[in-house]
Amino acid sequence: MSDVTRALTGAVTVAGRAPSIHNTQPWRFVVDGDRLDLHTEPSRQLRELDPEGHMMLVSCGAALHHAVVALAAEGWHAEVERTGAPEGAVASVRVTGPGEPDPHAVRRVAAVPRRHTDRRPVAPVPVPPDALAAVTDAVTGTGLRIHVLQPKQVVELAVAVDRALRAEGSDDRQRAELAGWVGGAREAGTGVPDAAIPRSAPETTVPGRDFGVDGTLTVPTGHDERAVHAVIYGTGDRPVDWLRAGEALSAAWLDAVDNGLTLLPESSPAEIASTRLLLRQLVSHVGYPYLVVRLGVAHDETTTTGTPRLPAPEIVELR
Ligand SMILES: Cc1cc2nc3c(=O)[nH]c(=O)nc-3n(C[C@H](O)[C@H](O)[C@H](O)COP(=O)(O)O)c2cc1C
Repeated sequence: MSDVTRALTGAVTVAGRAPSIHNTQPWRFVVDGDRLDLHTEPSRQLRELDPEGHMMLVSCGAALHHAVVALAAEGWHAEVERTGAPEGAVASVRVTGPGEPDPHAVRRVAAVPRRHTDRRPVAPVPVPPDALAAVTDAVTGTGLRIHVLQPKQVVELAVAVDRALRAEGSDDRQRAELAGWVGGAREAGTGVPDAAIPRSAPETTVPGRDFGVDGTLTVPTGHDERAVHAVIYGTGDRPVDWLRAGEALSAAWLDAVDNGLTLLPESSPAEIASTRLLLRQLVSHVGYPYLVVRLGVAHDETTTTGTPRLPAPEIVELR
């Protein structure tokens, strides 16, 4: 195996740690010489919740960003081609040559094993402005935009999330689909285990996702009043734009962790046309919203233990 192929397989291992909607890991990688192709995996698309595949593409974008960061951290230069088209590869990464390790990428890779989805309220401490700036810079650095909500807008967001959660929770087919992806220990390597789901509803202004099962995650008392909410948005609504949204999410999340913050995606209002319109109002109709994120200072630096991943042979093919 050449050094480049070894670097690409290593990058896939890092990419496999990326966040994904309900931990579906809807991706498949093909390593071929100096090239890495990323495909969506239709068998792990949430057909009821996500018929258009938007959240699947956001998830794949996050995996793509993880892979490119892993290469840059090892000093490999790479070119990325994005199509977003699920018929072929949604993106291809080609290694163009060796170079020096990128220090920012090194910090991001160090954040990968520490990053996890923390659904507890954030600590009662303000988000340091420098840390928030690092996160917004991470998003704009990928070419997308981010709007940090004013307190009044957070109330409007809470209404949109509540409406989205009610719509999804009253849909029998969506509930049945969700049940297949959450709860238990998740031995098969996908889905959200009990350990990552709050035991009781956390005190939050914006309601958390209702997974429909009783989790085992202990929730500290206190309200997440110090949380900061932001909308990631951009200028397009094509598949490739949703892929880029995932890259922005990954950049924001890794830099949030690197700066002592916790990030929680709140995607439900972006999943439904009517509540997505409410999100558009929040960004003054100047773009297409892809995702809401909650930022805050974590209660403690717990590392993720509970959320499983598929074994490498199930997500990567070596040609
Ligand atoms: C596109 C996308 C949307 C997500 N939406 C939510 C959400 O609305 N609520 C939530 O609690 N977690 C959400 N998550 C977090 C995933 O559930 C989480 O990444 C996955 O279970 C893997 O766990 P980990 O992040 O701890 O590795 C989302 C993640 C992605 C990538």
